[in-house]
Amino acid sequence: MSRLVLMAALALPVLGACTPAPETATDAAPVTPVAAAERTPDVTGPVKTPTSSAIAANTASASGLPIALVHKSPTCGCCTAWVEHLRKAGFTVEVDQREDLEPLKKRLGVPLGKGSCHTAEIGGLIVEGHVPAEDIKRLLANRGSARGLVLPGMPMGSPGMEAPDGRVQRYTVEMINADGGTTPFATHGE
Ligand code: CU
Ligand code: CU
Repeated sequence: MSRLVLMAALALPVLGACTPAPETATDAAPVTPVAAAERTPDVTGPVKTPTSSAIAANTASASGLPIALVHKSPTCGCCTAWVEHLRKAGFTVEVDQREDLEPLKKRLGVPLGKGSCHTAEIGGLIVEGHVPAEDIKRLLANRGSARGLVLPGMPMGSPGMEAPDGRVQRYTVEMINADGGTTPFATHGE
């Protein structure tokens, strides 16, 4: 028990590390009104039906991928970069801005001590942290009884955490099993 409490406490500084607020980001892309821009489904590819009726929570996007609902803090810059990574990979993304993600992580079942800066719901899976879109697609295609994917912390070089020199720290994405435990799913980087 005490070990679990310690793990939770240790996770807190990591969660707070990614807070480049839009107004302080000087070298990033031009800042647009985040809330309005991110809530607009970014549909790429052929659109066969009017967007007004085509886009609804948990319906498939034009790409055939499920819609990704990303819960993040309004001031999290690396979260926004990860949202863009998902969009480039073909996902339609809806963003839920909220200050306190902890109650949501508990409710969804993010394993204790495996937290990161944002939490997503994609096709019924939990996706915690800067998980590469390729891993999400692989699990969606063959999910078995898995509940989701976690990438604890924020490894340098993971999607949305790109380093200026392009370096990718070695990191392992873990799968959340039906019993809530985790097992390694994919390893990236050097
Ligand atoms: Cu982050
Ligand atoms: Cu994030």
